[in-house]
Amino acid sequence: MIKTWLTERFNLTVPLIAAPMGGTANGNFAAEVARNGALGMIAVGSRATPDWVEQEVASRPPGTERWGIGTLAWVVDQRPELLDAALAAKPPLLSISYGPYARHLEAIRNAGSVVTTQVGTLAEALDAEQAGFDFLVVRGGEGGGHGRDVMATLPLLQEVLEGVELPVVAAGGIANRRGLAAVIAAGAVGGWVGTAFLGCAETAWTDEARDRVISAADGDTIYTRSFDSGLQLAWPPEFGGRALQNTFSREWHEREPVSMEANEQMAAAVTDRDYEIAPLWAGQGVSLLESKGTVAEVVEEFARAEELLRRW
Ligand SMILES: Cc1cc2nc3c(=O)[nH]c(=O)nc-3n(C[C@H](O)[C@H](O)[C@H](O)COP(=O)(O)O)c2cc1C
Repeated sequence: MIKTWLTERFNLTVPLIAAPMGGTANGNFAAEVARNGALGMIAVGSRATPDWVEQEVASRPPGTERWGIGTLAWVVDQRPELLDAALAAKPPLLSISYGPYARHLEAIRNAGSVVTTQVGTLAEALDAEQAGFDFLVVRGGEGGGHGRDVMATLPLLQEVLEGVELPVVAAGGIANRRGLAAVIAAGAVGGWVGTAFLGCAETAWTDEARDRVISAADGDTIYTRSFDSGLQLAWPPEFGGRALQNTFSREWHEREPVSMEANEQMAAAVTDRDYEIAPLWAGQGVSLLESKGTVAEVVEEFARAEELLRRW
C-alpha cells in the first residue's frame, strides 16, 4: 500500500480523491469511491440547492472519513446557503475552488473540515498557502471541467512542489496507474481525478453520455467559454471549461457572448440531454477511457500505481 500524508489523514488505501464533478459526482458515487478505499467528493455545482445537498449527503457511507464536498467559490459567494448546507453535514474534507474564497475559510475551519482549493498557477498556489488551506490541489489545463488553462499539470506541479511547503495533490490528466505513479514519484501526496471516472455506472450521467466519452479520441476536447455563455452561467472569465467538442462549441468557441437564440437552444438541449449542444465536461485523459465500468474497477486500476513505484 502506498502511504502518504493523504492516505494517513483520511484513512485511505489508495492515494486518490475522486474529484467533485457537478451533475456527475453525487452521494451514491462518493459512497462507492469510499467503499473502495479512496476519497469520494460530492459536487455542489452551480445548479445545486440546499435540499439537494442534504439529500446527497444522506447517501454517504456511515462512519468513514473518506468523503468530502466540493463547492465553487463564485457560487457560494452569491448563495452562502449552499455552503451552510455543506458544512451542516460536517464533511471531513471541503474544497472551495474558483473565485473569492477568503471570507468563507473561517466558517469552514469552525465546522472542523480539512480545507483545500484547486490552483492553476504558482501565484495562485502561494496566495492559497498564505490564506491557510491545509493542502493544495495543483490542477493543470488538461483537466476536465472548469479551471485555468495557463499551465499544464506537469510544469505546474514541479513549480508548486518547489515553491510551497503544504502537501500537494495533483490534478489534470491523471488517467490511470501510470499518471498517479508519476505524480507521486514527483512528490505529490495523491491524485485528484475526474475524467477517469466518467465511464462508471455509479455517476449521475446517462448511458449515452458515457458512450460519448468512451468513443472520444485525442484532440476531441476543447477548453472554451462558449458553453458557459450558452448556459448563462456567471463563471469568472479566468475559469473556462474543458469539454468534448460538439456542434455548439464548433459554432461558438471564441465568439462569446452567444446569441439569445443560442441560449434558448442550450436550455432546451440541457432538458433533452442533447449532447451535440449541451456540454459533456471532460479532460484530455478521455482518450484513455476505453470501456464503461465501475468505480471499483477504476480505483483498482489506480491502486496499481504501487507496482510501478516498486520497480524503482
Ligand atoms: C464532468 C466534470 C464536472 C466537474 N465539476 C466540477 C465542480 O463542480 N467543482 C469543481 O471544483 N471541479 C469540477 N470539475 C473539475 C475537477 O474537480 C478536476 O479538476 C478535474 O476533473 C481533474 O482533471 P481530470 O478530469 O483530467 O481528472 C469537474 C470535472 C469534470 C470532468
